[in-house]
Amino acid sequence: MSPALTSRLIATVEGQRAMLLLLLLVLAQMSLTGSSPPPDPVACTDGASNCTVTNAYASFPDRRTCHAAKAAYPRSEQELVAAVAAAVAAKRKVRVATRYSHSFTKLVCPGGSTGAIISTRWLNRTVRVDAGKRLITVESGVVLRDLIRAAAAAGLSLPYTPYWYGLTVGGLLATGAHGSSLWGKGGAVHESVVALRIVTPAPASQGFATVRELGTGHPDLNAAKVSLGVLGVISQVTLSLQPLFKRSLSFVKRDESDLAEQVAAWGYLHEFGDITWLPEEGKVIYREDDRVDASSPGNGLNDNLGFRPFSPSSLVAQRIQDERLEKNGTDAARCSATRFAAAYLLSQAYGLTNDGVNFTGYPVVGYQHRMQASGTCLDTKDDGLQTVCYWDPRIRGPFFYNTGFSIPLSRAPAFVADLKRLRDLNPQAFCVLGTSGVLMRYVRASTAYLGKPVDSVAVDIDYYRSHASGTPRAHADMIDEIEQMALLKYGGVPHWGKNRNFAFHGAIAKFPKASEFLKVKHRYDPEGTFSSEWSDQVLGIKGSANILEKGCAMEGLCVCSDDSHCAPEKGYRCRPGKVYTEARVCAR
Ligand SMILES: Cc1cc2nc3c(=O)[nH]c(=O)nc-3n(C[C@H](O)[C@H](O)[C@H](O)COP(=O)(O)OP(=O)(O)OC[C@H]3O[C@@H](n4cnc5c(N)ncnc54)[C@H](O)[C@@H]3O)c2cc1C
Ligand SMILES: *[C@@H]1O[C@H](CO)[C@@H](O)[C@H](O)[C@H]1NC(C)=O
Ligand SMILES: *[C@@H]1O[C@H](CO)[C@@H](O)[C@H](O)[C@H]1NC(C)=O
Ligand SMILES: *[C@@H]1O[C@H](CO)[C@@H](O)[C@H](O)[C@H]1NC(C)=O
Ligand SMILES: *[C@@H]1O[C@H](CO)[C@@H](O)[C@H](O)[C@H]1NC(C)=O
Repeated sequence: MSPALTSRLIATVEGQRAMLLLLLLVLAQMSLTGSSPPPDPVACTDGASNCTVTNAYASFPDRRTCHAAKAAYPRSEQELVAAVAAAVAAKRKVRVATRYSHSFTKLVCPGGSTGAIISTRWLNRTVRVDAGKRLITVESGVVLRDLIRAAAAAGLSLPYTPYWYGLTVGGLLATGAHGSSLWGKGGAVHESVVALRIVTPAPASQGFATVRELGTGHPDLNAAKVSLGVLGVISQVTLSLQPLFKRSLSFVKRDESDLAEQVAAWGYLHEFGDITWLPEEGKVIYREDDRVDASSPGNGLNDNLGFRPFSPSSLVAQRIQDERLEKNGTDAARCSATRFAAAYLLSQAYGLTNDGVNFTGYPVVGYQHRMQASGTCLDTKDDGLQTVCYWDPRIRGPFFYNTGFSIPLSRAPAFVADLKRLRDLNPQAFCVLGTSGVLMRYVRASTAYLGKPVDSVAVDIDYYRSHASGTPRAHADMIDEIEQMALLKYGGVPHWGKNRNFAFHGAIAKFPKASEFLKVKHRYDPEGTFSSEWSDQVLGIKGSANILEKGCAMEGLCVCSDDSHCAPEKGYRCRPGKVYTEARVCAR
């Protein structure tokens, strides 16, 4: 058989297998209800000492484990103050862990093994809802799902939020998390913060810890709203809400030809608009999503398929498929699997329904609190791992990287045009991005010192990750070129809770107000109790997030400047990018 015919045959077989697996996966998740809640990221030998801390994927970009000597689980602000005081008195480094710890980066690590962890797991109460003033005050460990529900119960809503509701208020603020909007103050949650209470270190004469109350208009809010957790522990947050409204949402699939113009315009046309670009197909899925009057008919529900409970067997099958495509697959096979899955997801409206049960067509109109975010894999009892969230580390299921960066809106058209050039060189390479393609959302310039410096397009891409360090990945050079292009050529800034190490090297220089942030940090925490090796690196205080070692660029721990940073023994050497020739990527 000719090589071309062989590869076409393999493609067909692989494609069919992909379809089968995907169907299995879908059936599996629909036939089961309940799910096991994700594990706690903090595990200690006796409940409170000799601990390991990790994130929701049980793996940081550098694959190293983090330790802490102590863990505290305060249940009130008073207990929180005592926990901070005890750590400060004992001269321990402190970091905050949340119920699930969804950040990919090493933010949670106190460094070394003598530090302390304070978990906000039990700081999860809604303190008060003031319907008249449209304010909600919550403890910082409250999960976004519960905040959304508490607000809705009072006829109110937070307009712009991340799409996954398993994040805590403290964690999503610390990393500048966002949904999508160019309207009002834009898509980031911290734009709705009007006040907060934060526990910071204090001199021995004041009992080693103190509560600072940052009320409406307090200038330090600009530091505390997006803090990476280095100022102290946020105890409570007050957010301003809006009267509950409805949204009308349609996903519209179109040709990509005018994408470069649309990317600059779409966010102004639709209040909650976003864009998913499928570069290999040459198609774009536009989220046409607008506020409508609360009296508009419709009881739509967003129960995103990806955030539903999955059976472990379906996830294991999915991973086996991913690994096979990675090791033995062809680009054609990967693309046919991706196209099939993307078409399936769109046909199911990604899990949207018009009435909470069935999808009968666009637009889907529903209340904001049912449309803005989802995550039913969390809404569960402990069922002994019968079903889980798809990234649950107890299952050998999907394992992936998530890169997130923001490009100035004004430069987004040129960025898209460059990506199209890169795509045109090898369209099928882009299938490594899977069904989520290139997700583009909107965030506006912020007064928060570590928020977005200018109105921006926040770009997300996900891609396969190996469990073995240094393993070559299909088309990793293309991904690396995109990331370097975004960060270095187009002035992009990394999402604080996503990305691999190299993205943070030099990033702080792109935040014009970073020095204002550091002044507040020095005032609140002069000894650096809440600073870690990682936070010092990303804030440019000491060292670099880059880890320069053999093979580092294969793992995104550095940008290669020498073949040894790649895997010359496997044929991967440090080469210039193809479109952005200043990029340095590992290529064969
Ligand atoms: C499925 C999924 C979907 C996602 N969707 C989005 C999205 O739509 N938009 C988006 O922007 N991001 C998204 N993310 C990324 C996510 O927003 C960030 O990783 C988020 O910050 C994590 O929140 P967390 O509560 O898990 O915080 P963690 O990761 O546990 O903590 C983040 C940081 O905040 C600090 N911190 C937490 N609480 C406090 C506190 N009370 N006081 C002081 N410091 C504190 C921690 O120490 C740490 O430094 C998503 C992630 C996943 C897994
Ligand atoms: C600390 O925990 C590790 C496992 O994480 C365990 O092997 C070790 O024995 C523990 N040490 C003590 C002193 O308990
Ligand atoms: C707070 O979290 C605990 C443990 O995670 C849980 O049992 C409890 O129901 C939560 N309380 C609220 C008010 O959500
Ligand atoms: C790749 O193909 C070889 C030969 O067909 C097979 O032995 C191996 O198990 C395959 N690897 C994966 C991960 O499927
Ligand atoms: C949903 O669709 C199914 C058929 O697919 C139908 O039997 C059922 O009645 C519908 N439910 C609602 C609430 O419309």
